[in-house]
Amino acid sequence: MVSTRVKKLELLSNEDKAYLTNLREELNIQAKQVLGYPCSQVFDYSPLYDFLSLPINNIGDPYLASSFRVNTHEIEKQVLDEFLTLTSGDKSNHWGYVTNGGTEGNMYGLFLARELLPQGIVYYSEETHYSVTKILRVLNLRNIMIRSQDDGVIDYDDLRETIRIYRDVPPIIIANIGTTMKGAVDEINRIKGILKELSIPNYYIHGDAALSGMILPFLQQAPAFDFSTGVDSIAISGHKMIGSPIPCGVVLSKRAHVERIARLVEYVGSRDTTISGSRNGVTPLFMWYAFKTKGHDGFRELVQSCIQLADFAVQALNEIGILAWRHPYSTTVVMPRLNLTVVKKWQLAIYKDISHMIIMPNVNRQHIESLLKDIQDSDGEEE
Ligand SMILES: Cc1ncc(COP(=O)(O)O)c(C=O)c1O
Repeated sequence: MVSTRVKKLELLSNEDKAYLTNLREELNIQAKQVLGYPCSQVFDYSPLYDFLSLPINNIGDPYLASSFRVNTHEIEKQVLDEFLTLTSGDKSNHWGYVTNGGTEGNMYGLFLARELLPQGIVYYSEETHYSVTKILRVLNLRNIMIRSQDDGVIDYDDLRETIRIYRDVPPIIIANIGTTMKGAVDEINRIKGILKELSIPNYYIHGDAALSGMILPFLQQAPAFDFSTGVDSIAISGHKMIGSPIPCGVVLSKRAHVERIARLVEYVGSRDTTISGSRNGVTPLFMWYAFKTKGHDGFRELVQSCIQLADFAVQALNEIGILAWRHPYSTTVVMPRLNLTVVKKWQLAIYKDISHMIIMPNVNRQHIESLLKDIQDSDGEEE
C-alpha cells in the first residue's frame, strides 16, 4: 500500500512533490498545537484506506434500497444504531442519516421544524453557534434571539417572557447541548416546563449537540438531552469527539417528522429525505470502525480522562492567577481573553472577552504546561 502511494507520487513534478512534503510537515506542526477547537486526533483509519479507491456514494435514504449500490448504507445504519442507543432513541420511532457535520444537522432540524410548523418563530440564545443564524437566513425563518446567562445557559426567564408575548405562534426552539464557547447546556426538560406553563400545545425542539452529544452520554448525572426528553431532533458531530480526517456527523429525528417531508425520486430509486443528494460513504465507515474498535466503554474512558485533564487545567490556570472554569459536564475550559500571541500559537478560540481551550483525547499535560508557560512569558507583553 505505502509503496503504491509513493509510486503514484512519482507522477508529480519534483516541485509539486516538494510542495506536498512541505504542506504535510506544516500540517503536522499545526496539528500539535490545537487547543481551542474540538477535533480529536486519536484515530487511525489506515486499515480502511483501500475503500478510497471506490466511488462510494451514500445518496438517498440510508434505510431504503437505492438504484446506485456502491454505498455503505448498511454500515451507516449501524452507525445510526450506535447514536440512537446513546440518545435513547429506537429504530421504529426514530430516523437519521450521516451528515457533513453539525451545520447540516442543524439545518435538517430547522428544515423539519419549518415543514411541520411553517408559521413558527425560532428562539435561540445569544451563545448559539453561528451556523444557526446562517440557516435561519437560508430558510427565511422568523426568529428571536434570547439572552444567555453569564455561564452560557439560555436565560429561561427571557425565553418564557418572549414566548408569552407570541403565545399564538408555535415556538421552534434550538436547545444548545454544549455551547461552542462555554460548553453550556440548555435543559430540555426546563424548556418543556415553560411550554407547559404557558399551555403551548404545538412546538418543536432541536438539540444542537455538536460536541457534547458524544460527551454527556458517558457522564453520570449529566443534563438529559436525549429522546427520553421528547426532543424532536438532535445533531451531533463525528469529527469532534470521535475524530475523523473528513468532517462528518449525524442528525437524528422522530421518524414521523421525516415522513412529512419525504419525496420519492425515481432517478435514484429512493426517497429524498436528506439535505445533500450525494453523500459521503467513507465517513460512516470511519465512525463504524471507531465504535467497533473503541466501543462505548472506550469512549467513556476517553471522555472521563478528558474531564480529569480539564480539572487539572482549571486548577493549574487558577494557580497562576487566570480565572478559568468549566461546567461539570464539559471539557471546555473557559478563561478571560488571553494575549493574542498565545491565542495564535495554540489556536485558541476567542469571543468577546473570553477565550477557551477544549480538552480532547489528544491533549495531554505537556500541552497544558507549555500553554501555562507561554501565558506566563507573555504577561505584560503588548498586543
Ligand atoms: C455547538 C455547535 N454547533 C454546531 C457546530 C457546527 O459544526 P460543523 O462545523 O461541523 O458544521 C459547532 C462547531 O463547532 C458547534 O460548536
